[in-house]
Amino acid sequence: MKNTIFLLVGLPLAGSFSLSAAEPARERISINDGWRFQKGDPTEVSGSLDYPKIRDWVLPSSAAFLNDPTILPKRPEGNLAANVPYTQPDFDDSAWRKLDLPHDWAIEGPFKQEYSGNTGKLQYWGPVWYRKHLTLPASDQGRRLYLDIDGAMSCATVWCNGQFVGGWPYGYSSFRLDLTPYAKPCSDNVLAIRLDSPDKFSRWYPGAGIYRNVWLVKTNPIHVGQWGTDITTPQVSTEVAKVAVKVTIDNKGTTPTQALVKTQVLFGGNPVADLPAQTVEVSADGSAMAAAEVAVSKPQLWETTTPNLYTAVNTVEVGGKVVDRYETVFGIRSIAFTADNGFLLNGKRAQIRGVCNHHDLGALGAAWNTRAAQRQLEILKEMGVNALRTSHNMPAPELLDLCDAMGILVMDESFDCWKVSKTGNDYATFFDDWHEQDLRAEYRRDRNHPSVVMWSIGNEMRELKDEVAGPAIAAQLTAIAHEEDPTRPTTIGSNKPEASYNGVQKAVGVMGQNYQRGGYAEFLIKNPTIPLIGSETSSCISSRGEYFFQTPEQGADQNAEANKSIKKDHKNSAFEVVSSIKSEGRSDFQVSSYDLYGPAWAMIPDVEFAALEKNPYVAGEFVWTGFDYLGEPTPYNADVTNLLNFQDATSKALMEKELRELGKIAVPSRSSYFGIVDLAGFKKDRFYLYQAHWRPDFPMVHILPHWTWPERVGLGVPVFLYTSGDEAELFLNGQSLGRKKKAQYEYRLRWDDVIYAPGELKAVAYKNGKEWATEVVKTADAATALSLEADRSLIAADRKDLSYVTVTIRDQNGTMVPRSKNLVAFTVSGPGEIVATDNGDATSHASFQSPNIKAYNGLALAIIRATGQGKITVTAKAEGLKDTTVVITGR
Ligand code: GAL
Repeated sequence: MKNTIFLLVGLPLAGSFSLSAAEPARERISINDGWRFQKGDPTEVSGSLDYPKIRDWVLPSSAAFLNDPTILPKRPEGNLAANVPYTQPDFDDSAWRKLDLPHDWAIEGPFKQEYSGNTGKLQYWGPVWYRKHLTLPASDQGRRLYLDIDGAMSCATVWCNGQFVGGWPYGYSSFRLDLTPYAKPCSDNVLAIRLDSPDKFSRWYPGAGIYRNVWLVKTNPIHVGQWGTDITTPQVSTEVAKVAVKVTIDNKGTTPTQALVKTQVLFGGNPVADLPAQTVEVSADGSAMAAAEVAVSKPQLWETTTPNLYTAVNTVEVGGKVVDRYETVFGIRSIAFTADNGFLLNGKRAQIRGVCNHHDLGALGAAWNTRAAQRQLEILKEMGVNALRTSHNMPAPELLDLCDAMGILVMDESFDCWKVSKTGNDYATFFDDWHEQDLRAEYRRDRNHPSVVMWSIGNEMRELKDEVAGPAIAAQLTAIAHEEDPTRPTTIGSNKPEASYNGVQKAVGVMGQNYQRGGYAEFLIKNPTIPLIGSETSSCISSRGEYFFQTPEQGADQNAEANKSIKKDHKNSAFEVVSSIKSEGRSDFQVSSYDLYGPAWAMIPDVEFAALEKNPYVAGEFVWTGFDYLGEPTPYNADVTNLLNFQDATSKALMEKELRELGKIAVPSRSSYFGIVDLAGFKKDRFYLYQAHWRPDFPMVHILPHWTWPERVGLGVPVFLYTSGDEAELFLNGQSLGRKKKAQYEYRLRWDDVIYAPGELKAVAYKNGKEWATEVVKTADAATALSLEADRSLIAADRKDLSYVTVTIRDQNGTMVPRSKNLVAFTVSGPGEIVATDNGDATSHASFQSPNIKAYNGLALAIIRATGQGKITVTAKAEGLKDTTVVITGR
């Protein structure tokens, strides 16, 4: 799209249309509610809507996102799929399921053992249809009507009143379709949306359905274009900042029109600056850009600790009447990535303490829920996180709103592959046709978010090793990024050491290395001017609350097969990665939680901490991953794409053999073990290892494992302490087991030779010689009771807000019974309902929609929403244990 920039003021205004005072300038209406849903195609479709057949129909939807839209095919004459009854307005959909969006149909399951664990053992592929009736008022006559879909998984095609409108293949992109030519004000209108994800298009659980918000946007013919503001802060200091605002004005009318564009900057709702008004002349069916700047004195900078936000309010006037009003939230801040001092926010070093997260929200699947995401971010912030990588795709727009408001830096990522496929039916199918449009849409949508500090043009693309294609594609995508947003660098998640030297590193603004801590020093020597970040680190694996030990009868090699590709970094044979004890361990497909294990390409957190301390010019790290996610249950998967991670042929061959062998086992695992926090949001031990390192001023000490080992009296149970102190003393039943100090580059304190006796373990941590924090872990008796805790006792009665209720299995003294697996039945009375349940067990095939769930190592979760105002009583029952309730208020 080419825009003309006008900086002229004072042209005579020649308005070409009028607007009655009662009409609102712009409306953005949620149309999430009241959809009908049906799986499968009617027989008439019969392959006619496969991408190659509809390519020429959908590509024109993306014209505004191509520098040269003339390369697009012309949309074919006539209508698409008029013979398919589901597209037609008079089709009777009353027998279809009624539901509200956002909706992920695949999360409803059932889990099936025969499906791949890599994609969560859930069916996410196959065609589905959504339909909605929309009544449009007479006042919509003459207005523009846009359908904004924040994300639909995937290959969306849309009809309005039986006429084909357009579509968008990439399920992570947000897109707009113009309904104006097809919609009928003053009457019933029918939207029909078909989605069709192929099998094998993702390395993880992608979700399925219209899984993000959907909006109907109504404007006047002259209006601020889609994502039409571009706000930058070219000069920033605590004294004064320059705020530059560009606004694209679209004219969907038939006559050239002059528009007056005004911008006011608000802080805390109060005006702080007015930009000079601009008059632009917008040709019929054209666009023009207004650009202006203003100085804001004593700006409140956006910092991770004080994420101050401003709002720019644009008004567009034609003939003295306001025809549009548009708000953009932004922050005043400067960013710089340096080769010798990492990342600077407002001129000061900010060490990136980041995590990678997938987009699923655990038991809710991919269906967007703002509170669910906010809870994830709150838990991560408690750990010390200040950065998030949206691996490996564009996030929901509201995730960036949350990061803006919570002071979290974002690496906004686009792709998991370019032209060369990883899984067969993935984005490689669309790359040539769609990458420019997907990227420009991402950059225009996200460029005003102060939280976004870099654009990642992809993760571990197979081209990275190719010294011709790698640098060429990286340079091409970076050029697109900089046309849309010259203020942020691009980066990449590179697992190929070659890409740090073959030219890819020069094509991006910040080199991102995945799992290459050994290469940090060499990178600086050979690339002294290129900033570097650990774009993906650690990949440590564990199951919450599982600890495995070598037992005498086990013998050192019994688990050799499972342990082969899993690194063991321990000095004591008391540990095992996985257990072969029938009732727990390998037969249960869990991983020990001593935080010593990872697949062959991985490292324990401590190793990355040391590498970053030794190489302070590296900007920081993004740990794989903050939360567990659906799919990719390494090491219990048969995911051949894991092989892409291996540089070394011998380890690759070993892994390949192991995967083949594992393939013979009926592996139940359906979600990851990588998370620092489990799928339900319960903290694993590793949470405290990161907290100890990332929040050195927060007094804490954490003991692992739990202390209820009746079968190990007189046997070794190693004890680790994670503390933000520098030394600690451990006591067992009052007896000191010694005081230990962390050596340089040591991040955990270990007592590997503790002989188990029931009772009480106590840790006293010290910092600079002074007592700093204490923690006690007690042996539990038999389970007698349940306790319930709601993370929020007051929630909005809007069917969206959530309360996360944790049930804990306890003994008579209130101590959690650490290995309890009791079946818990949740019930709700009052104006509320259970949205989902979970327990964080990666092997569970229980439906997330079931109100009954087994505790996993002492804990289970129910996610509650309010359906109306009033008191909601949540009750948990388990056989043989005392019932308990918690009250939540919906307001
Ligand atoms: C990386 C990859 C991630 C995930 C991770 C598991 O190589 O980028 O998507 O697969 O490995 O360790």
